[in-house]
Amino acid sequence: MPQTRLPALDELPLEPGTRVLVRADLNVPLIDGRVADDSRIRAVLPTIRWLRDHGATVLVCSHLGRPEGTVTPELSLAPVARRLGQLLGTTVRTGPTEIVGDATTRIVDQAGHGDVVLLENLRFHPGETGDDEQFVRELVRLADCYVNDAFGVCHRRHASVVGPPGALPSAAGPLLRKEVEVLTGLRERPRRPFVAVLGGTRVTEKIGVVRALLPHCDRMLLGGAFALTVLAATGRDVGDSPVAVDRFDPCRELAAEEQVVLPTDLLVTERLEPDAPRLAVGLGTPDTVPHGWRGADIGPSTTERYAGDAFRAGTVFWNGPLGVYEHDAFSRGTRRVADAVAMSTAFTVAAGGDTVAALRHWDLTGLVDHVSTGGAASLELLAHGDLPGLAALRTSTVR
Ligand code: 3PG
Repeated sequence: MPQTRLPALDELPLEPGTRVLVRADLNVPLIDGRVADDSRIRAVLPTIRWLRDHGATVLVCSHLGRPEGTVTPELSLAPVARRLGQLLGTTVRTGPTEIVGDATTRIVDQAGHGDVVLLENLRFHPGETGDDEQFVRELVRLADCYVNDAFGVCHRRHASVVGPPGALPSAAGPLLRKEVEVLTGLRERPRRPFVAVLGGTRVTEKIGVVRALLPHCDRMLLGGAFALTVLAATGRDVGDSPVAVDRFDPCRELAAEEQVVLPTDLLVTERLEPDAPRLAVGLGTPDTVPHGWRGADIGPSTTERYAGDAFRAGTVFWNGPLGVYEHDAFSRGTRRVADAVAMSTAFTVAAGGDTVAALRHWDLTGLVDHVSTGGAASLELLAHGDLPGLAALRTSTVR
């Protein structure tokens, strides 16, 4: 019978030596071959520890970056295996770059109760993003059970996300369950007003889901490169800011919705460098962006308005910085809104790598109610109420 709820870890038929394939999201930043931020590794430790404590042999798998089906040495998960091993206090073996096949099977066969193996970057294999049936068959042959604890990829119809529940007894890990509980609650029972603060880049990827989110929120405050494209689409002068011209039509439709709030001023600069000249310009006023300059942050009056709206909200969902916050000179908008979100009595959710990195930079993560491990996944879940990876777990008929 298809399940209507997400099965939990303790429902798996575990015995000492059961091999459990754990889909994790270990897509972490690497600098000079070392893990620069291990939060995503730490987040999945309780799941791995629980499985080891129950005698399982744990086969962790993840993607790293977007190698597009090609073995790319700088995107190897070997540094992640080292860090995972340090945190677990054990050696974590890495699989071969073919991901599946005889060499992997040998490594798995040699692993005993409580051992941990990290398969190589799943996206080295073209079958991962192509959701290839043969790749799924070879993956599931390695294991007896499957756990999905990778919320950040549950919106992807990729082999390791949607394939195994059709073949193995499957469960949602605790990280995934928590994300679903919080975000589903926010979608179904938000405290009003529900304010979405959306920034960052990737207009092309995000425009569809942002429009789908609109009916759920009372106000949608746009910033970052996302807002620059919407502003340009509606005829505002954004100078030489990079914009997604091919998305102007849906951006114009978005801008026409009454919940949508656009910046009324911008901080523009000649170059994205700390000492470059910069200037606040009003949009729709006689001010114009100097020739060759580009937007780097929301302007001072937009900053005050957005911070005020976020502070007074009943619920805040924040995804994407509002400017180039990595440079102090262009961080004011993001910083003020981050402070307002942190100080607000609203139920607050921050999602996405850059948003969380910004909050961490200012030591504010502890003041946000829920820090989501998935940017695009959280937007998709809020907007559509389900994700391919969750549906696969719920409809798994294998028990
Ligand atoms: C993320 O970092 O958002 C997730 O790991 C998903 O990565 P992707 O956008 O490359 O699928």
